[in-house]
Amino acid sequence: MDIRVLHPSDIPHVQLANITNLPENYFCKYYLYHAMSWPQSSYVAVDVSRPQKTPYDPPKIVGYVLAKMEEEPTDGVQHGHITSLSVMRTHRRLGLAEKLMRQSQRAMAKTFGAQYVSLHVRVSNTAALRLYRDTLGFKVEKIEAKYYADGEDAYSMKMDLTHLRDGVGIDGDSSDEEDGDEGEAVGSVGKASEAEASETKKKGGKKRKVKVGRGLGVGELVERNESQKAESVGLH
Ligand code: ACO
Repeated sequence: MDIRVLHPSDIPHVQLANITNLPENYFCKYYLYHAMSWPQSSYVAVDVSRPQKTPYDPPKIVGYVLAKMEEEPTDGVQHGHITSLSVMRTHRRLGLAEKLMRQSQRAMAKTFGAQYVSLHVRVSNTAALRLYRDTLGFKVEKIEAKYYADGEDAYSMKMDLTHLRDGVGIDGDSSDEEDGDEGEAVGSVGKASEAEASETKKKGGKKRKVKVGRGLGVGELVERNESQKAESVGLH
């Protein structure tokens, strides 16, 4: 089994897994929005045991986690959100969901500086609740009444990620921050930013934060309540 970043070409297969496993479904553009805006946050589990017969044979995607960063957090705290997670019935209880979640949480913290990650889960979803609360360490923040389109309540859950963000990884590994070289500067823009970076380094300055998402005009695609608002296809 291979756990890797979600590629745009995976989207139809992820969409199929989502429709098979959950009643909260989304348009293709919403998946693409996740993949293009926060490419390190969403992952797929691919069954690589099945040999690829032709170059056009699609990967067998047996699980996914679709995640994003909250663009305008109401509490003002930079955080991630799990939009959707599922694993095909044939591949459950193998630890795939746990691995997908951990990969995503790590990327949210290390790449996007998330302080915590949030999600919603149906109060009746015992399996997911056990995964989130007992295996991963999420805490229930509150119950959101009638959150889902069919009237079911949701647990709104949160998990702190500061231990990952501050350099201590899932396995206690703090090496990623110092990995250093990401390759040569490319073109005139690359050269300019390289010079700027070395100047900042000389002055002992910090990395500069840049605006992403809404600031670049893609905010209109953001959906607040994945189960009820415009992007949802609503196959209930
Ligand atoms: N019953 C009780 N506990 C469970 C179950 C279950 N059926 N499934 C997982 N767990 C708990 C266990 O503690 C398990 O550890 P263990 O196997 O050592 O006992 C732990 O979670 C980790 O299990 P994984 O093997 O990583 O979980 P799996 O890959 O089977 O996927 C998932 C779990 C995603 C909940 C799967 O059952 C599924 O796809 N369900 C349908 C879709 C769904 O409910 N998705 C979550 C919706 S909420 C959201 O999307 C934000």
